[in-house]
Amino acid sequence: MQYQFLESDELFTRIKTITDFAKQTAAATQKQAKKTEKLIGEIEKPINVPPLPAGFKVDIPQFDVTKRLNKLPRSWDLPQQLYKKHLPKYNVGTIYRIQELLNVGEGYIGQTVTVAGWARTVRDQKNLCFIELNDGTSFGGLQIVVEDKLSNFDQIIKANTGFSLKVTGNIVKSPAKGQLIEMLVADPTKHEVVIVGQADPQEYPMAKSVQKPETLRQKAHLRPRGNFFSAVTRIRNNLAYATHVFFQNNGCLYIHTPIITGSDCEGAGEMFRISTIFDNDIKKIPQINGKVDTAQDFFKKEVNLTVSGQLQVEHFCISMSNVYTFGPTFRAEKAHTHRHLAEFWMIEPEFAFADLFDNMEAAEGYVKFCINYILQNNMDDLKFLDNRVKPGLIDYLKDIVSKDFIRCSYTQGIDILLKAQKAGAKFENSDIKWGMDLNSEHERFIAEKVFQRPVFLYDYPKEIKAFYMKVTDDGKCVRAMDMLIPQVGELIGGSQREERYDVLAQRIKECGLKIEDYGPYMDLRKYGTVPHCGFGLGFERLVMMVTGVENIRDVIPFPRYHGSAEF
Ligand code: 4AD
Ligand code: MG
Repeated sequence: MQYQFLESDELFTRIKTITDFAKQTAAATQKQAKKTEKLIGEIEKPINVPPLPAGFKVDIPQFDVTKRLNKLPRSWDLPQQLYKKHLPKYNVGTIYRIQELLNVGEGYIGQTVTVAGWARTVRDQKNLCFIELNDGTSFGGLQIVVEDKLSNFDQIIKANTGFSLKVTGNIVKSPAKGQLIEMLVADPTKHEVVIVGQADPQEYPMAKSVQKPETLRQKAHLRPRGNFFSAVTRIRNNLAYATHVFFQNNGCLYIHTPIITGSDCEGAGEMFRISTIFDNDIKKIPQINGKVDTAQDFFKKEVNLTVSGQLQVEHFCISMSNVYTFGPTFRAEKAHTHRHLAEFWMIEPEFAFADLFDNMEAAEGYVKFCINYILQNNMDDLKFLDNRVKPGLIDYLKDIVSKDFIRCSYTQGIDILLKAQKAGAKFENSDIKWGMDLNSEHERFIAEKVFQRPVFLYDYPKEIKAFYMKVTDDGKCVRAMDMLIPQVGELIGGSQREERYDVLAQRIKECGLKIEDYGPYMDLRKYGTVPHCGFGLGFERLVMMVTGVENIRDVIPFPRYHGSAEF
């Protein structure tokens, strides 16, 4: 069947644009390609946060607790013992994991055990061979000393960085500084070193000890073999674990919200379309009136990858009170910043019979719990990152957990920026006025320079926020909050939700959305509506804050961003 394209058709216009582009002169195309190539994979220049003008001071905004729906301050703090993870005992078959040996330490002295992992270094010294073996379970590896009595000693000393080895030996007290135990492989009748896999030192990409994160990103499959990315990975894992500990111990149910969805939660239209009818051969795409015939698609309508699990998690909140979701979210933003990915993970709790200020309490408790958890459980990784990635990282984290976060309204925030500007602060976007969407430089100036600690900015003009947020009594603002972190910027976005049917219907209209698309969401306001609130924390931004890593692409195993979906 042949399809006719009319000039006015959107699809036709797109095809025409592509064809026209292809027709451009070779030189112009090449120039364009070079420009695109430069942009893809590159990052916009870092944000410049102006220093505090000399003598500039503002009073800390006082927060009135009586403003809260639930008047008694309810602390989300959890008992200290929950910060400490019970150490996993994770041996596979007869193989011991190095973390367990190092943790138990002297308790293993005298025992014969088998370990397996990848050689970080292999050195031979007279009739001994020293191997540092790392299996990824802990920052430090196990030092192994092999004596030349072993029958394959000649092969062992030829091993290199990256070789996978299985070693059986005796745990002994280490004479070396900085380690309690090591393994001695000296008895040819009981001990052995098995070379499991080789790695040619000329070709092995991780052989060089220090490499730039940008270089490592090109080798995402081997990144975790090095100190940098394995430290990030262990911290990332523990932050996910701490998230569940925090919410489960605060009575929240984990709800698995869908990845495929028909509604755009943030209303920003930055969604990835899912379809089984698209074909490289345009003629095969079913059409109706010159448009793609979505009724013939898999779900018989247009669907996308979710940008947020919030709308669906709200359904469960309005029955089960305290809930949260933690899953991947997708945004087709062509952003080339340090802070944006096309695929990222988000934690979104939702609380019934609670308001914006209860929401802040929970968010502050959660972020502090996560930091404390890592300070307790990942000190070796943090020391490395403090040393190599961000000097002062450990003090920075300790400082965050030791202070009360500030609650400052958007209006107060604008006042502060205007005053600072008058006193001489130079912002790149100097057009500061009530109603504007703040840039990262403004947000960071408030958190980093003015208050020097995390800040909740709340009650934003409704024009710059999503449709579902509760309108304030004066009708100008919505009960939104952003948690701004020094050196990171926005970590959390949240709000009290509009629970009044009529007001919500009006907001949907104002935002240019169709009320029919939000039927179930409206129902929740029709049957037993309650005040409720929630927030979304970008998991990678949390990992960035805790590890001190500056680029979001270096805290996720397989980064996806505009122009790149490798591995
Ligand atoms: O502020 P956002 O867009 O809020 C929501 O999605 C709400 N539905 C959340 C809720 O109330 N349940 O996103 C929340 C957080 C941001 O503060 C940021 O940390 C992170 O998600 N985020 C991104 N992280 C990485 N890459 C991106 N492209 C991100 N966009 C948002
Ligand atoms: Mg936001």
